[in-house]
Amino acid sequence: MSIEAVPMGPHPRSDVLVAGARTGALFRRGRFGQGSFRQGGFFGQGYFGQGGSEPYARNLSRGLGRLTLRPESELQESIGPVHFNTIGWSGPATAGERELLRTLRGPVLDVGCGPGRMLAAARELGLASMGIDSSPAAVKLVAERGGAAILGSIFDSVPHERGWGSALLLDGNIGIGGNIRVLLERVASLLAPEGQVLAEAEPADLLDVAYSAVLEDSDGRASAAFPWARAGAKALAFHAERAGLDAVATRTVQGRVFLTLERR
Ligand SMILES: C[S@@+](CC[C@H](N)C(=O)[O-])C[C@H]1O[C@@H](n2cnc3c(N)ncnc32)[C@H](O)[C@@H]1O
Repeated sequence: MSIEAVPMGPHPRSDVLVAGARTGALFRRGRFGQGSFRQGGFFGQGYFGQGGSEPYARNLSRGLGRLTLRPESELQESIGPVHFNTIGWSGPATAGERELLRTLRGPVLDVGCGPGRMLAAARELGLASMGIDSSPAAVKLVAERGGAAILGSIFDSVPHERGWGSALLLDGNIGIGGNIRVLLERVASLLAPEGQVLAEAEPADLLDVAYSAVLEDSDGRASAAFPWARAGAKALAFHAERAGLDAVATRTVQGRVFLTLERR
């Protein structure tokens, strides 16, 4: 497995689509950036896949099933759906993910760890690790698999603040809270002085959206709405810069794009 590392260049200006479900409005902005709304403040509270018919907890308990992340409002159709396969999260880490883990310093904090495949892989590699997740079903599965995870939000207090060698934001987790800059500022504040964030971007370089989302299973069971965001590599690097982090490398592994972020 080879990993291609590319130094980041300057980010170009680009359009960004900011969608507000509360107002049913779509706003275009002339450059990257999601305005000044704070964690949960603009789109409301709520956690990924929770509430409503609890599709995330249901799928996790079965270890399989398709989940679709889509905008809450039909007026936001221009923001396409994202399809997840629960088996990918419930199964073991891929060869590419293990290769990435080998490049990281411990201890590793997996933010939004789900059922904990990265924590299991970190343990196998001898890296100290802990997950944090807002889903009780996910944290229960981590514990059943012998991993360590705390139930809570990354925006609440986290043990070992300023002591984490690395933090992971994988599988779309840069979207947690619906404001990428705010999330990155929070994660950066948890790192040790030489710490790094490994953050996964979407393949579409210039994508940059923040919106009120719902998660739905293949039987149409939907969660309550929650704030979410998505970004490609260029937009993510821009948000990172505003959060006081430099994107020092991008790596493309098995078609997935990962940025390494370091405190300036
Ligand atoms: C897109 S899923 C990623 C799944 C996960 N990385 C895995 O390997 O299964 C997002 C995850 O982030 C968690 N999450 C959402 N908001 C969170 C928050 N504020 N703090 C911690 N975890 C959160 C969700 O419960 C969910 O497990």
